[in-house]
Amino acid sequence: MSKEVFNPNPEFSKQARVKSMDEYWELQNRAKDDYEGFWDGFAKEKIDWIEPYNKVLDESKAPFYKWFVDGKMNVCNQCVDRHLKDKGDKIAILFEGDKGDVEKITYNDLSKRVNKFANLLKENFGIKKGDRVVLYMPMIPEAAIAMLACARVGAIHSIVFGGFSAEALKDRIEDASAKLVITADGAFRKGKPYLLKPVVDEALSLGGKSIEAVLVVKRNNEEIAWVDGRDHNFNELIEAKSDICDFELMDSEDPLFLLYTSGSTGKPKGVQHSSAGYILWAQMTMEWVFDVKGDDIFWCTADIGWITGHTYIVYGPLAAGTTTLMFEGVPTYPDAGRAWKMVETHKVNQFYTAPTAIRVLHKMGENEPSKYDLSSLKVLGTVGEPIDPPAWKWYYEAVGGSKCAIVDTWWQTETGGHMISPIPGATPIKPACATFALPGIMAEIINSDGEPKEVGETGLLCITKPWPSMIRTIWNDDERYVKSYFSDAKKDGKAVYFSGDGAVLDEDNYITITGRVDDVINVSGHRMGTAEIEAAVKKDDSVAEVAVIGVPHEIKGESIFIYVVLKDGSNSEDIKSHINSILSDEIGNIAKADDIVEVPGLPKTRSGKIMRRILRAIAKGEEITQDTSTLEDPSIVAKIEDAVAKVKK
Ligand code: PRX
Repeated sequence: MSKEVFNPNPEFSKQARVKSMDEYWELQNRAKDDYEGFWDGFAKEKIDWIEPYNKVLDESKAPFYKWFVDGKMNVCNQCVDRHLKDKGDKIAILFEGDKGDVEKITYNDLSKRVNKFANLLKENFGIKKGDRVVLYMPMIPEAAIAMLACARVGAIHSIVFGGFSAEALKDRIEDASAKLVITADGAFRKGKPYLLKPVVDEALSLGGKSIEAVLVVKRNNEEIAWVDGRDHNFNELIEAKSDICDFELMDSEDPLFLLYTSGSTGKPKGVQHSSAGYILWAQMTMEWVFDVKGDDIFWCTADIGWITGHTYIVYGPLAAGTTTLMFEGVPTYPDAGRAWKMVETHKVNQFYTAPTAIRVLHKMGENEPSKYDLSSLKVLGTVGEPIDPPAWKWYYEAVGGSKCAIVDTWWQTETGGHMISPIPGATPIKPACATFALPGIMAEIINSDGEPKEVGETGLLCITKPWPSMIRTIWNDDERYVKSYFSDAKKDGKAVYFSGDGAVLDEDNYITITGRVDDVINVSGHRMGTAEIEAAVKKDDSVAEVAVIGVPHEIKGESIFIYVVLKDGSNSEDIKSHINSILSDEIGNIAKADDIVEVPGLPKTRSGKIMRRILRAIAKGEEITQDTSTLEDPSIVAKIEDAVAKVKK
């Protein structure tokens, strides 16, 4: 572990919300001493309650926790309406398209556009509280506006990342029994138009019978097919709508959204988030971790299809009343200086991205940052996967000019917002280290019986007390919620939340994330279950057996490595492109494998369990340390090694 420590910039600390570790500990100890009192204070201060709650935390049906019981509020009010008095003319969403087109939407404009959208949902599509609406959208302002409009009318949105295939979209529509899909004809990427609507058409031809209508935003005006009666032109319909629309009174615990994510079984899980607890933490982490204030311009480069986009492009920044920069393109187009040019042009103060993006930007344009004025930057953030020290160093020095804190934020779809992260004005940072749990978050590294691990020993990263923005359940599957998150570790006899990650403490009690300990892999920050990929490959008739593992990759962090056993007589020519096209159809291009190796069999124990550790070692070119004599067929190992060597040659 690195011994290097970077102290906060004293100039920054002076003006920061949390100025020192003493202040951090004061907050964290307050939470430890009076947990409910801690949250009660912030909930009262931060949320615009329409009707007050009468209990902070209800643990009676643990792990189905309830926060701010019986309180009434609305997330759209929290993000938009309540700012209008003081910040109506402030820019809420600053949009830059792939081609450099810029749109500035003030809080006043946003309010009107959201209200019109909400009226459209209600009047034209009969959308009401509790209905599920699927968004299959590009990165355009209407995506954020649609989310807020859903929140306003009380509909539960479920965003499906635009890179997912028709099959994956159909599955998510069906699991949520959604009524409406909101999409766009397409958008622009690397200067060229691409289409989204045809994927929706295909998804609905495969199933998704609950869908009554498809609302299409025209972004690039490309020719698209149209189903009369089902498809509706957003741009035409929105004109006539009133820009006044009362928001629905929502209970603290009413679901705000579902977001599907991968676990260790084949079927994605619909992570269900609440209204009040989620937005409270989204706002508080914007204030603590990014320290946004005044006229700061905040830029998170994620896609709204992922949790990072939900919490740190839309809900967090807007709840905090800041200006959020939304970007349609890719940071390396038209060249590797695009991101830095945008920082200069828009005077970005906080920049938040993924390690994969940092590695790509570093590799493609090591000296690019020096060509631009990046002096507006105050805080840099990373999320989604472990960052390696060289990428961290470049980010710190070349991008941040050695004066910006890097907040390495650890969190998950299920946690709603940051959990473990430096606080920029307070925490002395160590490269590639998430440091400490945020105030109010009780993160512990333990074994399954709740015993703390010694310094230097990897253990299960658990959150031992419920927190307001936590997942509430898996949509329609309470049992799976308990099994996935509350079955692996106990503390004082009580089941605690297990993240699926391992972590380790150093001698200064800093937390470093060591990665997933379950069968989830992380490719360029995209989370995928090996079981999900295996299930997709198995759908092919020629496949007898398959095993998917993640292997380290220089840029992507991890890449997908597939071992496949074909049925007798199957054609093994072109197996790589064949299987990749299946994955692209079943899941999306993000699930394509870098390595696909046909093998005569898999290493199995006599009881039929696949020895994945052996497969991992072979794929990584490591020595096999396991005892292979207990395998059903020990000779298979050498055959697999040969097959891999041939492909790698
Ligand atoms: O393994 C951890 C990794 O990403 C997983 C969560 O993925 P997802 O739900 O898609 O959310 C990603 C964005 C919040 C975690 O279980 N992860 C996330 N942040 C970090 C990380 N690994 C190391 N360091 C991080 N900062």
